[in-house]
Amino acid sequence: MTRHSRGRPAPIQLEFDDVLSAEGGVGRDAFESLFPRLMALRDEVGRVDVELWQSGAEIPAEKQPLDAGFIPLPETILGEYRSQRDSSELGRILQVASQLSEMVDRVVVLGIGGSYMGARALMDACCPPYYNELSPGERAGRPKLYFEGNNVDNDATAGLLHLLGDDNRNPDWAIVVISKSGGTMETAVALRQFVRALQEAGLSGSALAERVIPVTGASGKLADLATSLGCPERFRVPEGVGGRFSVLSPVGLLPAAILGLDVVALLEGAAAMNQRFLQADPEDNPVLQYVALGHLMEQLRGATIRVTNVWSKALESLGLWYDQLLAESLGKQELGATPLTAVNTRDLHSRAQQHQEGRLDKFHTHVVVENWRTDPLPVGVIGPNDDQLDALAEVTLPEIMAAAIEGTRQAYRDAGRPGCVLRLPEIHEYTMGQVFQFWMLATVVEGRLLGINPYGQPGVEAYKRNMKRVLEG
Ligand code: PA5
Repeated sequence: MTRHSRGRPAPIQLEFDDVLSAEGGVGRDAFESLFPRLMALRDEVGRVDVELWQSGAEIPAEKQPLDAGFIPLPETILGEYRSQRDSSELGRILQVASQLSEMVDRVVVLGIGGSYMGARALMDACCPPYYNELSPGERAGRPKLYFEGNNVDNDATAGLLHLLGDDNRNPDWAIVVISKSGGTMETAVALRQFVRALQEAGLSGSALAERVIPVTGASGKLADLATSLGCPERFRVPEGVGGRFSVLSPVGLLPAAILGLDVVALLEGAAAMNQRFLQADPEDNPVLQYVALGHLMEQLRGATIRVTNVWSKALESLGLWYDQLLAESLGKQELGATPLTAVNTRDLHSRAQQHQEGRLDKFHTHVVVENWRTDPLPVGVIGPNDDQLDALAEVTLPEIMAAAIEGTRQAYRDAGRPGCVLRLPEIHEYTMGQVFQFWMLATVVEGRLLGINPYGQPGVEAYKRNMKRVLEG
């Protein structure tokens, strides 16, 4: 049985005593000596850059691109929603989401990179496991959600088209297509496949157009296509918000609202993290602390690999979202830690050997959920005791998980590989909002600390140019 939290869960916490005191860590002196620099960077990232971006003044060359718009975004969207309700952007998102729920039973979300990973993280974290397998009633009447356009994998695309029933004369599905630039090959090619399937199922004109909801920039190929198709509803990726920083814009909010998630709580969580970042002293500021730990582990201990150990299956996509954020933001000028998500206990049986005894080049963050959403399952009794588990019959899965976490942390600590813990009171939209904003802010501060512009991803263009040349023969 699922338990629902009443009200907002407690704030997320970062715990890191091990990294300051254990062998292989960084020591308190080094940690605290970074505080003045981090305070200055907080001012630069959280105030100076935001004001510069908001002013509309010319951005100095060394700061271009400056996508600081993600920082005030949660407060902006919430403020408009509170004052304008249905006519605000969030109000419109909620209306379109509920119209879609009435119109169709399945939605295909097309997008890649920052136009995909945040929505995926939200679905996997906040919806029940096996969500798409549940009955309409168990889904509270909300559509199933599928993600495509995040690859050019023929079999995967064909498989989803088959599932949707491409010869069905009454298609019960719609498309949300997300691309900030509007010109990304994977997304654009997928859009053609799925629009054609709707056409082949007999839809055209306004009946087709209302099944395609674009989320894109003010102009571009997708915006033009939406106009040609006559799409009645469309949403904008805001100016000054980079793809991998856009989860709290319509890019993540629309899919989340379609799933019936509490998008207000999501934004409130992010706003709460903004407050902590902007107001708390370093001793009490998880964003600045996380930056200091990662940076010092890299500088002093050669920990160039940053392992995010998520201790819940539901958080794997969140880990992958952070992998993209860190890799695309800081992987520049031959700098930036290499991210890696491990899902435990699963990956204790695949990666842990290396994490325990391999190269001393890793910094571990353990993302730990305090309260599970469902009642604890005991090991139980089945009659025979050949597996010798009767002694643990009363022990529950959460208790076994807690033992695995403690045992792993102890083993890593004993091996001179201390890690920090990002503690989530529970998986909830409010918690996810905090975590998203926490990691986005930390990544930008860390970029500035390294002397890297965390915004933009110039290196991704090279493969696109080559691919275009190959296709054009
Ligand atoms: O973070 C980024 O900017 C990228 O990962 C983009 O999100 C990704 O390349 C997709 O781009 P677009 O939304 O323009 O299709």
